[in-house]
Amino acid sequence: MAAPAEGAPHTEEAVGAPPAVEEIKKAAAEQLIDPYNVSGGVDDEGNVKAIDYEALRKRFDTPALTEEHLARFERVTGKPPHRLMRRKLFFSHRDFDKILDYYEKHKFFLLYTGRGPSSGSMHLGHAVPFLFTKELQEIFDVPLVVMLTDDEKFLYTRNKNQGKATKGAALGDFIKYAHDNCKDIIALGFDPKKTFIYTDYEYMGGHFYQNISEFEALLTNNQIRGALGFDGSTNIGLNAYAAKQCVAAFASSYPILFGQPDFRAPDYAASRPQKRIAAIPTLIPCAIDQEPYFRMLRENCDRMENPSPKTALILSKFLTALQGPGGKMSASDPNSAIFMNDPPSTIKNKINRYGFSGGGATKEDHEKYGGNPDVDVAYAYLSYFLDSDEELAEIETSYRKGTLSTGELKKKCIEELQKFVTAFQERRAKVTEDIMREFMTPRELQFAGKENLLAMVTPDNVGNKGGNAGNERGGREKSKGERKAEKIAQKKAEKLAMREKGGDTTPDAEKAGESVQD
Ligand code: TRP
Repeated sequence: MAAPAEGAPHTEEAVGAPPAVEEIKKAAAEQLIDPYNVSGGVDDEGNVKAIDYEALRKRFDTPALTEEHLARFERVTGKPPHRLMRRKLFFSHRDFDKILDYYEKHKFFLLYTGRGPSSGSMHLGHAVPFLFTKELQEIFDVPLVVMLTDDEKFLYTRNKNQGKATKGAALGDFIKYAHDNCKDIIALGFDPKKTFIYTDYEYMGGHFYQNISEFEALLTNNQIRGALGFDGSTNIGLNAYAAKQCVAAFASSYPILFGQPDFRAPDYAASRPQKRIAAIPTLIPCAIDQEPYFRMLRENCDRMENPSPKTALILSKFLTALQGPGGKMSASDPNSAIFMNDPPSTIKNKINRYGFSGGGATKEDHEKYGGNPDVDVAYAYLSYFLDSDEELAEIETSYRKGTLSTGELKKKCIEELQKFVTAFQERRAKVTEDIMREFMTPRELQFAGKENLLAMVTPDNVGNKGGNAGNERGGREKSKGERKAEKIAQKKAEKLAMREKGGDTTPDAEKAGESVQD
């Protein structure tokens, strides 16, 4: 049924997307990266600067992904790492080693990633973390949850528009985008036996919602403002949303996937989340703009009544906008991005017309001085989508030398992208409503290390019937010392978050009227 171009044209639909390159140009001189802003900043002449990933990594204080990680990945899994990892497009991490340690022993963990449904069709940049996640799921044979944040995008868009309802941005529109995106994600090849995809509006409740409440109680407005750039005029829904994205990382938010009872109508089998399920570690593959959320997550994992291990992250760069390396592809600017439902002719036109080139100014110059693949968009896209390392190296060398022309490089890029997008569209056309619903149904998942997990989930901690029985931490009064330690941790977390914003302590009144995310 569903043809790839199903859904309204993305030009109108990109209501909840981050700012487009044109908007970034008006932005601050400084590089600014958080879940609601991705900009390399502008120089004195007003030119957009390339994103400085090393500076970002230092600022976020996230370790680099090293050759040792790649080698260990191969030793543990017996498979070579995906090209996105080999080429350090996934370039940073938190506790990736610990996930590998755990996997070596127990043969499972939980994968979690997500997508803010801001438009009907996803673009190539949106597809990148999912391509990578799919490969991880296949190699590790582990369960995966995909969160579609229809609520986040609704709240964000309303906030951007000062509370006003706008066309294509009614609450129900975001549910529809989420469903369209769900089909796109399925078409990237996920295994229905191991994958649960949900929209927040449809799935939240039960233990998930209990985790949300607990987490909301651990975060303060100051922390949220520091980490996400919000202020007193930000709507309260968007402030509270962070807790949802964070606890979505806890396996205990999804007991049914592990064959355990939840607390939902009409079956209230288990009143509280289970300790053993909460103890399953999680790895999140995502772009580095989401790191500010997950920093708050990691700081609070062990403060939950049923604590979870600190969530591991593997973090990617952004797929460059067609206009060049200062911003990422944005659904709100159709000319900045190649959409997964673009026909081959559109892909060709976009690359030829808008693709920022690192080639020489003239043919003579190019042959004499060579081109610069480091800023060239066609080369950048090939590094994401061309699988052969040898071929890519050959392209790089000949482009630098000037023996490969800009036209030839673009042609190669167009061919590769057309191949990828066309194959995607063929699979997407086969994703029916029923298939979508199969992925979106909460059900027990199948994965390799499941036996090991079930051995850990013993009957006496299943259900927690009658309040917190069988739950070591629950029900017990916290000592004075513990309460004091929590207070100190809270203050420390707030300070950290504020520092992250560059020590921004501007009073709310001074910021009043300033739009929050773009
Ligand atoms: N906030 C993300 C976005 O706007 C969506 C999201 C939710 C997500 N949970 C996630 C992304 C986990 C990566 C990993 O796209």
